[in-house]
Amino acid sequence: MRMVELIQKKRDGQALSPEEIRFIIRGYVEESIPDYQMSALTMAIFYKGMTPEETAELTMAMAQSGDQVELSFPGKTFVDKHSSGGVGDKTTLIIGPMVAACGVPVAKMSGRGLGHTGGTIDKLSAIPGFKVEMEQAAFLEQVNRIGISVISQTGNLVPADKKLYALRDVTATVDSIPLIASSIMSKKIASGAKGIVLDVKFGSGAFMGSLEEAEILAKTMVNIGHSLGRETVAVLSNMDEPLGRAVGNSIEVLEAVDALQGKGPKDLMEVSFELASWMLVLGKKAKTRDEARKILEEAVEQGRAMEKFLEFVAAQGGDTEAVSRKKLQIAPYKAEIQAEKDGYIHRIDARTIGVCAMNLGAGRETKESAIDLGAGIYLQKKSGDYVRKGETVLELYTSDLKKAGLVAESLKDVVFLKDAPLLNKPIVAKVLDQCCIN
Ligand code: URA
Repeated sequence: MRMVELIQKKRDGQALSPEEIRFIIRGYVEESIPDYQMSALTMAIFYKGMTPEETAELTMAMAQSGDQVELSFPGKTFVDKHSSGGVGDKTTLIIGPMVAACGVPVAKMSGRGLGHTGGTIDKLSAIPGFKVEMEQAAFLEQVNRIGISVISQTGNLVPADKKLYALRDVTATVDSIPLIASSIMSKKIASGAKGIVLDVKFGSGAFMGSLEEAEILAKTMVNIGHSLGRETVAVLSNMDEPLGRAVGNSIEVLEAVDALQGKGPKDLMEVSFELASWMLVLGKKAKTRDEARKILEEAVEQGRAMEKFLEFVAAQGGDTEAVSRKKLQIAPYKAEIQAEKDGYIHRIDARTIGVCAMNLGAGRETKESAIDLGAGIYLQKKSGDYVRKGETVLELYTSDLKKAGLVAESLKDVVFLKDAPLLNKPIVAKVLDQCCIN
């Protein structure tokens, strides 16, 4: 087989065979296929797409390109959750303990944040003493003992995706549906998930700008999951505005603590309950989403979700006192953005808030950037709220006084006000499982 002929075949719109896809992924990981040929192929895929069969084959070839973890927990079904990335998305911190408190094991390998989106591992690192690195045996032992562990991605999991994602990033081929879908699903398959719950976001702060695009991505991933024998459900949620009120690291952990006690912002509670409900359904703890939701609400009301969070923090060396007394480090300098007139808030743009939080130090511009765990933005008001001129809408936190002024300046127009009230838009727009797709 010659790579140049396979590039030509895809360029001309033909489907690649399973053998050809395996040849490409093997060759790319072993470095017999160079970056320049792989770039040409990803651009051809960008323009010509892939059939569902090709996308599933690509997913499997990538999943098998490195270590595969066989996570099995006696008598239990291992369900994983993945979010396509957003601003203020702290749902893993909430869903993990909720679901574990209801008997579905949570064994998660998460990433750090990059660009305007945050990462679970950075958020957990804001808890003093919390260890995000662990040997696989200790990771599994903890899940078996207390039902939950979240660590940073280790080992040689899906090396094909690591190489390919870095290449796509610099060749303008990230936003290709078959490439995004296979990238996400290969990591879930390699980590041994039997059930997969996907949070596919759409809107200004998400990869997919519109609900229609997000739906195509979600369908592609649900189809991949089912064709590879994994029960998969996708929840489509709105990311035009940050999820919840807190964007940063320490401040997001504090908001997650509120949510685990049932006191989180409405949109955050809604998305968390929806995703957690599907995890309970796929984890065989409930027959329907509604039944699952009742079980989860009870776990929150009875304090079991919060107890599980503290048990999880303690197991990974974190300071439970600091968490339960809400004493995490917040950056010392504060600036405020006030409403310029009276009116109803119609929009606080998620992407702008994400980029500004990053500029305050809460995120990374490049993989090498340092992070200020105490920095971030707190939304005192959200879309739908009525504000009077001069009322504080946003609070900015940073350790760098100069940044506070600069970022405040760039946030002057982020709050979009109108005289008329905003019509209520549901945060969860749609749920797709195999039944909805056929
Ligand atoms: N997230 C991933 O893991 N991969 C992509 O290609 C895009 C988002």
